[in-house]
Amino acid sequence: MDKKLKLLQQKTAAAKLGGGEKRIEAEHRKGKLTARERLHFLLDEGSFEEIGMLVTHRCDDFGMQKQIVPGDGVVTGYGAINGRLVYVFAQDFTVFGGSLSETHAEKICNIMDLAMKNGAPVIGLNDSGGARIQEGVSSLGGYADIFFRNVRASGVIPQISAIMGPCAGGAVYSPAMTDFTLMVEHTSYMFVTGPNVVKTVTNEEVTAEELGGAHTHATKSGVTHLTAANDVDGIEKIKRLLSYIPQNCEEKTPRLPFELGGELREQLTGIIPENANQPYDMREVIGGVVDEGSFFEIHAEWAENIVVGFARLAGSSIGIVGNQPISLAGCLDVNSSRKGARFVRFCDCFNIPLLVLVDVPGFLPGTDQEWNGIIANGSKLLYAFSEATVPRISVITRKAYGGAYDVMNSKHIGADMNFAWPSAEIAVMGAKGASEIIFKKEIEAAEDPAALLAKKEREYKETFANPYRAAQRGFIDEVIDPKDTRRKLIKAFAMLENKVEKLPKKKHGNVPL
Ligand code: HXC
Repeated sequence: MDKKLKLLQQKTAAAKLGGGEKRIEAEHRKGKLTARERLHFLLDEGSFEEIGMLVTHRCDDFGMQKQIVPGDGVVTGYGAINGRLVYVFAQDFTVFGGSLSETHAEKICNIMDLAMKNGAPVIGLNDSGGARIQEGVSSLGGYADIFFRNVRASGVIPQISAIMGPCAGGAVYSPAMTDFTLMVEHTSYMFVTGPNVVKTVTNEEVTAEELGGAHTHATKSGVTHLTAANDVDGIEKIKRLLSYIPQNCEEKTPRLPFELGGELREQLTGIIPENANQPYDMREVIGGVVDEGSFFEIHAEWAENIVVGFARLAGSSIGIVGNQPISLAGCLDVNSSRKGARFVRFCDCFNIPLLVLVDVPGFLPGTDQEWNGIIANGSKLLYAFSEATVPRISVITRKAYGGAYDVMNSKHIGADMNFAWPSAEIAVMGAKGASEIIFKKEIEAAEDPAALLAKKEREYKETFANPYRAAQRGFIDEVIDPKDTRRKLIKAFAMLENKVEKLPKKKHGNVPL
């Protein structure tokens, strides 16, 4: 371990609690870094300025007056990541388990207020036993003060939460209201009620890891957007995430230098299989369109039938939403609609243009979906796209069927440009289903129903299973050669660079939450 880190450790407030070294060692044994070590890796060297290092708690109960620790279990301040200002707080588990006292909360609120006034992101490194039990309602009030600020800051400055230890009870609601949550595998967990309460109330036996570990929230609940193998990996992911995002809602997205060259991408030509029912990985399309190696996927393991993430196109950040044919044939369902909607709304808050890649056979049928509210949830994605005023471009690679065609950023709901590949099929439904319905009587009466169905299917396909009908109506602006997609998108997004669109004056809309 380098000298600088050692020095930082000594500064850890725990050292003043007594047994500090042991506490730090215990954290290291669990595979965790301390709060100061995390900040050391997160921020540009020498950029961190601490605020409130000498703040102490004001609790007189349960012998707390004898346990005064400067900083009170949270390190707060500001610094830079790749030269850009950020405000940070890092909870220090070695001090009262990182638990949140009234003053600990005040320190966090202070940097959130500064971040709001100065228009820069807040990054919270969470590692806490929750409300400081000795302080009772004062600590609950402290949480509420943070929640209130999370909501006021939402859409104004980016808020990112890394969960690097316990996060339980009502405390989970602050990360949940920030824009992105990252969890470290095996050392972090989030739940409203822990395994013991679960056992008492429902008689279920479950470990903390199963109930609320990183894997659970990355695959089952979607509560976490990102996971990391360890603290350092998590910190690197946060830095990468920030690189795509502006400092606040008034700023444009970060841009890297770029010169237009030969932008044809031959690999896009062969991606769509001959057989329309055969899947392919939409990530291959993304990889062929965006700047090399720039795709940063969000929610990669949850609701995999939709792919969302950030990338760079000609050096500028964009948000990508794409149906994913390798999972549930790319159908929209409850979770994919929620995932897509949340991402679209984030991009719209922070001026990040949207590229939508469409290959969607429709909404997923079934009682499970209907009873879980596909109507209300599907409408979230429709609402999010319709409301978004950032530049919005779609490319239909294959299927755009039924209501899902409308939902996936069609021009009807305000997209600026819609391109289609020649393989696009834009129709109310697939040719087989359509023919079975509209020619039902003729097929039943036919001598050879199967042959007639096949014939009608062919006719329907020729008429609608292509992009040209939609292009005739102007719903598709251009049918493009797949290998030319990148160049077309670079030019179209450049054309939309100064887009200004205002929503009608209102207090706020009523999203079908
Ligand atoms: C005060 C706490 C604390 C807390 C832990 N500590 N949690 N002190 N308030 N909430 C202290 C411990 O007493 C211990 O102090 C030190 O932190 C480390 O804790 P350990 O238990 O030794 O660590 P570990 O075995 O790793 O277990 C961590 C833990 C456990 C799972 C987080 O400590 C725990 O269950 N804590 C209580 C969690 C909880 O119920 N919190 C309230 C949730 S309700 P010493 O001095 O012995 O080292 C809530 C409501 C928020 O937060 C509502 C918002 C609206």
